[in-house]
Amino acid sequence: MRFRYLPPVHSPLSWGALAAGLRAAVSPRYAERAREEVEGWLKATYQPDAWVWTDSGTSALTLALRLASEEGRHPVALPAYGCYDLATACDGAQVRVHLYDLDPATLGPDWGSLEEALKAGARVVVVAYLYGVPIDLDRVEALAAQYGATVVEDAAQGVGASWRGRPLGAHGALSILSFGRGKGVTAGGGGVLMGRGSRWAGALPSLERGGRDLVGLVKSAAQFVLARPSLYAIPSTLPFLRLGETIYRPPHQAVAPAEASFGLLSRSVRTVAPEARARRRNAARIRQALGPGAEPGECTHASALPGYLRFPLLLSAGREADSAARRLGIMPGYPTTLQRLSGFGERRVEPGRSMPGADVLAARLVTIPTHGLLSEADLAAIERWARSRGMGD
Ligand SMILES: Cc1ncc(COP(=O)(O)O)c(C=O)c1O
Repeated sequence: MRFRYLPPVHSPLSWGALAAGLRAAVSPRYAERAREEVEGWLKATYQPDAWVWTDSGTSALTLALRLASEEGRHPVALPAYGCYDLATACDGAQVRVHLYDLDPATLGPDWGSLEEALKAGARVVVVAYLYGVPIDLDRVEALAAQYGATVVEDAAQGVGASWRGRPLGAHGALSILSFGRGKGVTAGGGGVLMGRGSRWAGALPSLERGGRDLVGLVKSAAQFVLARPSLYAIPSTLPFLRLGETIYRPPHQAVAPAEASFGLLSRSVRTVAPEARARRRNAARIRQALGPGAEPGECTHASALPGYLRFPLLLSAGREADSAARRLGIMPGYPTTLQRLSGFGERRVEPGRSMPGADVLAARLVTIPTHGLLSEADLAAIERWARSRGMGD
């Protein structure tokens, strides 16, 4: 127990998944079968009209923005707080950006701010689900339709979550998923861009087949072995791994995923539903322990089923690094807003607009782990932490 150190997220892997990854890397026939299996899952779950597999979620989003903006002709409305890969994708697609503010209580758009972005000329609306919290998509779609804008759905963090009974990632004209290491379902890396309707389905580019990527497979094996509470103290103390840090990565050319990814994914997609159920169960415990005074980021709409990749919570008294919290996998959110992200400002059309909701999130948001590796003792320790922060009873 003394050496227990909780990873903030968990993307289930197994020896079986790693073996399937290796077979796909060395056998083109096996890779083809694994790909067909994964495509069966994709079609049944997300019902796209067409799709293209990519080396990352960022590449999928870059392609989506290039298409939806008509090669940069139309500006893009982008949330002012989120993963820095949103900025990377805008840079890669060379689009102009109107940031819109978020409501810290829902982690969804500040509606007035989103409408201002549309009034100012944005004709693409990117919605990104932070930590698997759904967004009121009826309202997004109504607003986008009023201005003739295309909705691009970034469901990289949306695994296991749904809106009106359909999974996040099944709603946009263009939608993307990520299979990166921290996304709850992993292929060691990779992503997919899906298009709906003849306009988008016919416009998706095709990418060359990927390579073998045995190095990626070794990294996935290391993740499988080390990203568990009994051993996670080891990687978390190695500074060169930069675990838990948010880094801006410059754009690169989108390519296809490695063949090994399809082998891994053919197994990891089977874990999506049970792992999401475990996250929701744990999130309910955490929610209860926090008590009525706590400020979680949540969508309370009756049609929203959250995926709780992590449990987002606003702290009232700052969110300074605290080693006890880190051992429990409790981590600050993204350290800065996209508005203040150095270098990204050049793509913004109106640098001066204030984004108070995004500023609150950058200053006060922490995330609590919810994954299926949490034990009763871990949940009790998280409850004690909540009480020590003046929440709960
Ligand atoms: C909201 C969001 N979009 C896109 C991405 C990019 O995904 P990837 O890491 O596969 O490039 C991420 C990754 O963290 C993300 O959180």
